[in-house]
Amino acid sequence: MSEHIRSTKSGGVLTLLIDRPSKKNALTDSMYAALADALEAAQPDPDVRVVLLRGEGDIFTAGNDLGEFAAVATGAAPQRNVIRFILGLTRLCKPVVAAVQGKAVGVGATLLLHCDYIILTEDAQLTMPFVNLALVPEAGSSLLLPARIGHARAFAIFALGEPVDARNALAWGLANQVVAPDSLKSSAEDIAHRLAKQPLGALIATKKLMRDTETLIAHMKVETERFFERLTTPEAREAFTAFAERRAPDFSKVSGPGS
Ligand code: COA
Repeated sequence: MSEHIRSTKSGGVLTLLIDRPSKKNALTDSMYAALADALEAAQPDPDVRVVLLRGEGDIFTAGNDLGEFAAVATGAAPQRNVIRFILGLTRLCKPVVAAVQGKAVGVGATLLLHCDYIILTEDAQLTMPFVNLALVPEAGSSLLLPARIGHARAFAIFALGEPVDARNALAWGLANQVVAPDSLKSSAEDIAHRLAKQPLGALIATKKLMRDTETLIAHMKVETERFFERLTTPEAREAFTAFAERRAPDFSKVSGPGS
């Protein structure tokens, strides 16, 4: 298991803690691998009735590690444990609770579309700046987000990178509760333990009825191909270089209909 993913089990609840606060909990391939392993092990584990996802520090997660994206953009082989992680989340039959403080960026926001009960802090912001990074939405979000909140809102969130604040997330059905930061952990644990006491067979059957997993997985295959194609474009290289150099990207010289 990655040193940045901490896992604990108690009272039927498996807590997975993203613990890399010095890098805003940015997710590396080895962190995705650890999360994927934990979800795969949770599926048949009789001691796990609910999974709780949390992040250490002031934000939930800054999304994919941009250094790793930059390496792919400049020729490194793509690491694909992110796919294993998202598929693990999609296929998990047990309920998933997410506790989100501050920002949830990129996959940090799209993974929430696969969770079943989401608690945000008042200052939470969900951001999916895929187009800003010259990428396309991932993790099934290009299907799930417009289905949840409508095309118009989803387009602005994707195309302009417009953040969704906690108030709108609640109003638009992206979250269940908004709480003060100091009660996030206890609120999430309370819900997770309440769910753990429910009859698991009925919970699993209900979750299955509520989701069309096969259609989602087929859509994710297409999305993933586009995403990995885009990672090696000159546009994406410019976006990642700009982040590393702490400047705004300039797409004027690298963009065109085929780029
Ligand atoms: N990948 C790798 N490192 C990241 C990161 C990411 N996605 N997000 C933040 N970090 C690192 C920064 O490089 C910085 O490292 P350093 O201290 O060694 O220089 C550290 O985390 C703190 O980040 P900083 O930008 O100074 O914090 P902030 O509070 O001012 O801003 C964010 C936080 C999340 C708004 C900002 O870091 C950000 O926009 N990150 C990129 C998010 C993104 O585009 N993710 C990909 C989505 S697909």
